[in-house]
Amino acid sequence: LKKIAVLTSGGDSPGMNAAIRSVVRTCAYHSIDCIGVYRGYEGLIEGDFKEMNARSVRGIINKGGTILKSARSKEFRTKEGRQKAYDSLVKANVDGLVVIGGDGSFTGALIFNQEFGFPVMGIPGTIDNDIVGTTHTLGFDTALNTVVDAIDKIRDTASSHNRLFFVEVMGRDVGHIALNAGIAGGAEEILIPEENLGLERLVESLNRSRKSGKSSSIVIVAEGDKIGKNIFQLKDYVDENMEGYDVRVSVLGHMQRGGAPSCFDRVLASRMGVKAVESLLEGKTNFMVGLLNSKMELTPLDNAIKGKTKINLELLRVSDIMST
Ligand code: F6P
Repeated sequence: LKKIAVLTSGGDSPGMNAAIRSVVRTCAYHSIDCIGVYRGYEGLIEGDFKEMNARSVRGIINKGGTILKSARSKEFRTKEGRQKAYDSLVKANVDGLVVIGGDGSFTGALIFNQEFGFPVMGIPGTIDNDIVGTTHTLGFDTALNTVVDAIDKIRDTASSHNRLFFVEVMGRDVGHIALNAGIAGGAEEILIPEENLGLERLVESLNRSRKSGKSSSIVIVAEGDKIGKNIFQLKDYVDENMEGYDVRVSVLGHMQRGGAPSCFDRVLASRMGVKAVESLLEGKTNFMVGLLNSKMELTPLDNAIKGKTKINLELLRVSDIMST
């Protein structure tokens, strides 16, 4: 390979810039040319490229978001769109592509490879941690720290006013952010899509803890949880069926995707970028780099997309015991 392109696609996550920096610098280290693609697959289709060298990525390891910008491209889902993307890459003499994103972005990369035989390598970048083949996706750790910080702050006001707070966190269809941040933030209950507690049991549990002397409580609700239709209806139900608590809802939203990446995410991003470029140089394609047993490992993109992450049952049990 002589020239590698890198893009960020899908929802941004803290650590994407650190990963871009790592890809660019690993290319420079191996004397390979590197170009950045703006706005994910949209930019690939339009040929919106920028030559990058080791110095173009200075001062970004600590920055949230992505300097290359991100998009969810509809056109890349069409055969014509992918053909245009292929033509742009060929025109720019690019012969390898690193895609930093989530499962939607990997699906696109895989189809692209199957159609044109173009070498692709994935770096898992999403706060949701919903990708098989890595214990941590890029941005997950930072998002957890952001959520725990928010829970700590909400707890101050919850305990001043003897309130019960429902705090909604992101995670799409999975409860990894909720479960981990809930334990770290000392939540009373954690509601995740993987385990449906049921409204009655929730109220029973909250009543029990109230009787045991707790004057305020925090319940973490994963956005994908199905216990109520939505968090506001959940609040209404608890308001009607419980006495003694003043109930409030706080939806954390997109603040969970921003901010400076944690030390863990910066190191992970740096390792993933090196592994991605060096794997392409070894002739590997259609893989995703990931962290497994503290090592950088490759997982076929196909498995990464189709697999379902499992919730750690030990964490569930710890959370139950901690809310005693
Ligand atoms: O995948 C990251 C994520 O932030 C999810 O947690 C959330 O469900 C979704 O993206 C929100 O997407 P958007 O920013 O397009 O509203």
